[in-house]
Amino acid sequence: MAVASHQTVLSICFLALLFRVLADKENAHLTTPQILTKYGYPNEVHHVTTSDGYILALHRILPTNNTTSSGKVVLVLHGLFVESSSFVCTGVEHGLGFILADEGYDVWLGNVRGTPYSRNHTTLNPNRDPKFWDFTFHEMGTIDLPTMVDHVLKVTYQKGLYYVGYSQGSTIFFVMMATQPKYNDKIKVHVSMAPAAYLGHMKNVPIRTIAHWNNFIFFWLKVLKINEIPPKFLVLIKSGVCFFSPRFCNLVFMAIFGYKPHQVNSDTLTSFLGHFPLPISRKQTQHFLQSVKSGYFRRYDYGKKKNEEVYGFLTPPAYDLSLVTVKCHLFYSRDDLAVSEVDAVRVCKELGNACGSNNLVNDTTVKHLDWLIGIRIKELVYSKLLNIMAGY
Ligand SMILES: *[C@@H]1O[C@H](CO)[C@@H](O)[C@H](O)[C@H]1NC(C)=O
Ligand SMILES: *[C@@H]1O[C@H](CO)[C@@H](O)[C@H](O)[C@H]1NC(C)=O
Ligand SMILES: *[C@@H]1O[C@H](CO)[C@@H](O)[C@H](O)[C@H]1NC(C)=O
Ligand SMILES: *[C@@H]1O[C@H](CO)[C@@H](O)[C@H](O)[C@H]1NC(C)=O
Repeated sequence: MAVASHQTVLSICFLALLFRVLADKENAHLTTPQILTKYGYPNEVHHVTTSDGYILALHRILPTNNTTSSGKVVLVLHGLFVESSSFVCTGVEHGLGFILADEGYDVWLGNVRGTPYSRNHTTLNPNRDPKFWDFTFHEMGTIDLPTMVDHVLKVTYQKGLYYVGYSQGSTIFFVMMATQPKYNDKIKVHVSMAPAAYLGHMKNVPIRTIAHWNNFIFFWLKVLKINEIPPKFLVLIKSGVCFFSPRFCNLVFMAIFGYKPHQVNSDTLTSFLGHFPLPISRKQTQHFLQSVKSGYFRRYDYGKKKNEEVYGFLTPPAYDLSLVTVKCHLFYSRDDLAVSEVDAVRVCKELGNACGSNNLVNDTTVKHLDWLIGIRIKELVYSKLLNIMAGY
């Protein structure tokens, strides 16, 4: 009898949970297309295969006002530990994807290799083949991004597109231009939020510390065959905790990232945490940490011996920002602990004539993730970004 009732209780709990999962309409647990559909935005998923076999997904928000013919096509690229959902999961009021679509843009949200929507390959299995994870932002900039740009231009019959990059989304833009300058002709303007190229003045102390011990830590991660950062089991734990107690999840996030309660919208944060942090490759993580430690914006450092084999030099070649000729408008914030003012100013200087403007966001609460979730980011940045784009 006792056993039976025990089972009944368990069954009821299980059914309740199942119901909750099935009935869940929270953005935190919906995919990018599901979120777009939920708010009534017609959308499409496109798959493109890169020259080295990665199958990437692009999410397209069709223009709401039937303005495709206006030729306003924008490609938007996400940052580290997130994917296309980061531009829509915060909802129709705050999501940059929706804001661009409402302005009449044909919006394309890219997903770089390794992110959940682009975790696929013609021959390699991401769960079994470490070779799948043998990439950094170099491959994203030299292969993924050109593939996505060409696909979007082909489908929309356009000669050029608008480009919005957030953090790594701008890193890979600079890599693309420095390695294949002919792509300058395919872009109308690049608007960058947190232009991550030089990271030598990053203020985040824990990350600086990890960067210092980079070689040691990554040697062991390799030995332990951990290809994804954060490792999958940690992401699973996070998902479980956030699912059962979004409030607790928010509090942990705020403690780690140094937010005070009035600096975040808790619903926005809950939606965002359903899609953050997503794993990236170990090598990609290491490449960024090398930038933090060395202060250079250059290719992955294998160590002297292998550098000579791969590059023909003892040190990795640098990405030359002077090869960017299309106008770039940068936004940076003093409170952004990842992309510092010094480094953003240096990017603008090295872009030379291509630096259309370098905009300090004059708000002391804009941290690195606030470019996506900031409570005032729409008025502080998105509105200005739209004005800039309207001028091209
Ligand atoms: C867009 O155009 C299609 C056909 O050209 C039409 O059926 C649809 O109602 C239009 N939508 C809007 C929002 O105007
Ligand atoms: C497009 O339509 C939306 C909703 O129908 C409207 O809010 C927006 O102002 C329109 N944009 C343009 C450029 O007409
Ligand atoms: C990977 O791509 C192949 C070929 O397009 C497709 O058949 C398969 O379903 C995809 N797998 C996943 C997990 O998306
Ligand atoms: C930043 O904003 C504050 C008040 O909001 C203002 O006093 C200050 O002059 C502004 N600084 C710049 C550089 O615009």
